[in-house]
Amino acid sequence: MLKNNIKSQFPLLDSPENKNLAFLDNAASTQKHESVLKAMDDFYRGSYANIHRGVYRLAEAATAAYENARVTIAQFINAGEEAEIIFTRNTTNSLNMVASSICQQFAPGDEILLTEIEHHANLVPWQQAAKHYQLKLKFIPVTSEGRLDLSNISDLCNNKTKVVAVSAMSNVLGTITELEPIISAAHKVGAVVVVDAAQAVPHTPIDVKKLDCDFLTFSAHKMFGPSGIGVLYGKRSLLEALEPFEFGGGMISEVTWNSSTWADIPEKFEAGTPPIAEAVGLAKAAEFIQSVGWDNFLSHEAELTNYGLTELTKISGLHLFGPSDAKNRGPVFAFTLDGVHPHDLASVLDENNIAVRSGHHCAMPLHRKFELLATTRASCTIYNTKEDIDRLVEGIKKAQKLFC
Ligand SMILES: Cc1ncc(COP(=O)(O)O)c(C=O)c1O
Repeated sequence: MLKNNIKSQFPLLDSPENKNLAFLDNAASTQKHESVLKAMDDFYRGSYANIHRGVYRLAEAATAAYENARVTIAQFINAGEEAEIIFTRNTTNSLNMVASSICQQFAPGDEILLTEIEHHANLVPWQQAAKHYQLKLKFIPVTSEGRLDLSNISDLCNNKTKVVAVSAMSNVLGTITELEPIISAAHKVGAVVVVDAAQAVPHTPIDVKKLDCDFLTFSAHKMFGPSGIGVLYGKRSLLEALEPFEFGGGMISEVTWNSSTWADIPEKFEAGTPPIAEAVGLAKAAEFIQSVGWDNFLSHEAELTNYGLTELTKISGLHLFGPSDAKNRGPVFAFTLDGVHPHDLASVLDENNIAVRSGHHCAMPLHRKFELLATTRASCTIYNTKEDIDRLVEGIKKAQKLFC
């Protein structure tokens, strides 16, 4: 376990009202680090102006803060250059951009390969594009253990496959995807790989150059940063070949009454006033993760994963989904409890000051595959402790007493 008390660096968790809160809904959104709040507050109080357009000093300072954030994020995921970082609203927005733009390049009958663990954000935009351009969706299956079955990957990736879009970590099963064999099979047939890293980014280091993925997306709010900003990374040549997704100010080069040409990347994909203070907050969040260090993140989360798996599976009548061992698995625990509806369980836990989520977690087809409509999900991050998991276990036992 981490020695210094990281929880106290998160003002909401350190407030008198929430001191006793076991916050276990981090897969939905994390709490915000004090450095993020301070940087955004300072920016609004001292340096705020709209960016890119003004020549006065305040506008130049705001532009520099926004562009420096792009540099920080490029370094955070080891992008080749900062122009390959597009600021979007969130992962969903990033995935909609890629799906709707890239599919314009394909012919009817071409194939998009997804997986059965996808969040709706990496499924519905492809469904819509497939309908529009008469493309075929295929899926890498998930095993009953909650891992992707890659045994058939070279058949699933064939010369019709144009895109392989895959989540780097499941928001339900906690599984961390083995990306390398998927990317290599996709590239062998010339397909483009889109990685949904919304869950993975706060749990595992990402190096887009080493991975050699073509696009990668994530959201600031799941990595201790603000809501309202996400990232789309793309290789320069691919971004240059994509049509923009939104149109208006900031993304043009030349405009006449009847037609327009586009700015270079990244501006081409950032129409309108972007989330400026949010970019400053996102950069601080990335710096916070780096200051803790990935070794600390990985060892703390491995301990929480092992502890959670051990303690939760001791509860009779509790059925945990996802891999039963901590290898390539993060501290996300989705489960059902015999005799207690997931929503009732979440309400009882809330009465005991334990915040979890219940429902399908935007992964309806995955739940159906396991013959479920809903699960209760507890998800941990760097500021959680073994005591939070002990509180969860106690709360579940209280619910069992109430309902069974
Ligand atoms: C794996 C995964 N992908 C995408 C998303 C969507 O993220 P956002 O709501 O920030 O767009 C989520 C959110 O839970 C997720 O878990």
